[in-house]
Formats: sequence, structure tokens, C-alpha cells
Amino acid sequence: MELADLYRDVILDHNRKPRNFGPLARADAAVEGFNPLCGDRLTLRLRFDGEKIEDVKFEGKGCAISTASASLMTEAIKGKTRGEAAHLFERVHELLTDDRAPIAEDLGKLAALSGVREFPARVKCASLCWHTLSSALNAGATPPASVSTE
Ligand code: FES
Repeated sequence: MELADLYRDVILDHNRKPRNFGPLARADAAVEGFNPLCGDRLTLRLRFDGEKIEDVKFEGKGCAISTASASLMTEAIKGKTRGEAAHLFERVHELLTDDRAPIAEDLGKLAALSGVREFPARVKCASLCWHTLSSALNAGATPPASVSTE
């Protein structure tokens, strides 16, 4: 499948049917992400089992790309350790912001996010949830801390 097709299909699918959308009981960390360019917000909640991310959910209002990115991210990090999730953040951040970054096969559906490179104004949409994740992994604070993509 061409990357442009993957981008369109994956973003459409995950925006229409966001995975892991909703509240999370007994969350250990909750962080709110905010995109100051458009005012969109999302709240990310994680529950840990030791170092492992046992469950993760998100809520909020955002555009198709931010919703799809959050849906893809929650699928990708569930069951991973804090360190693995932090490493994935670094890889996706590079994928979104470096035009020359190779698109590794093991990223799976996350590779679709590289489609925003064609639309620089949308990079903040795709990265909103990832910055929120990074903040949650670093702070691990609850009640909600706040992070901005600015
Ligand atoms: Fe607000 Fe995309 S337009 S996050």
C-alpha cells in the first residue's frame, strides 16, 4: 500500500472509531495536552502495573489527525514498559519532524503519521498526544498536569 493511501485510510479509520477513547478507572497518571494554535485539548490517563503500561485511555476534542494519532498511540503503547513507550515517543517525534527520517517497517500503522510531513501545519495535531504521553511518563502526576505543544 502506498504511504498516501495508508495515511488516508488509517487516519479516517481511527478518527471514525477511536480506540481507547473514554474514561479510565484507577488511573495512576493523568495529563492534559493543549494545542494553543487551535484550542484543542486531550486528556491522557494511564494505569501502570510496575513499569508496564497496563491500560491507557484518552478523552477530549480534537481534529481528525489529533484523534487518530491518539488512537494509534494508545494501541501502540498498551502493554509496553515506560522505557519502551518513551523510546517510541522519540521515534515518532523524529518521524513527524524530520523529512529525512526513514520510515521503519516495525512502526506498523504508526508509519501513516509520517503523512503529516506534507502538511507542516498539522504536525502539532499529530504530536499533541505524544507530547502529552511524554509528560505523563516523566511526571506520572495525578490529578491532571498540563502540557502545551507550543
Ligand atoms: Fe486542533 Fe488539529 S486542529 S489539534
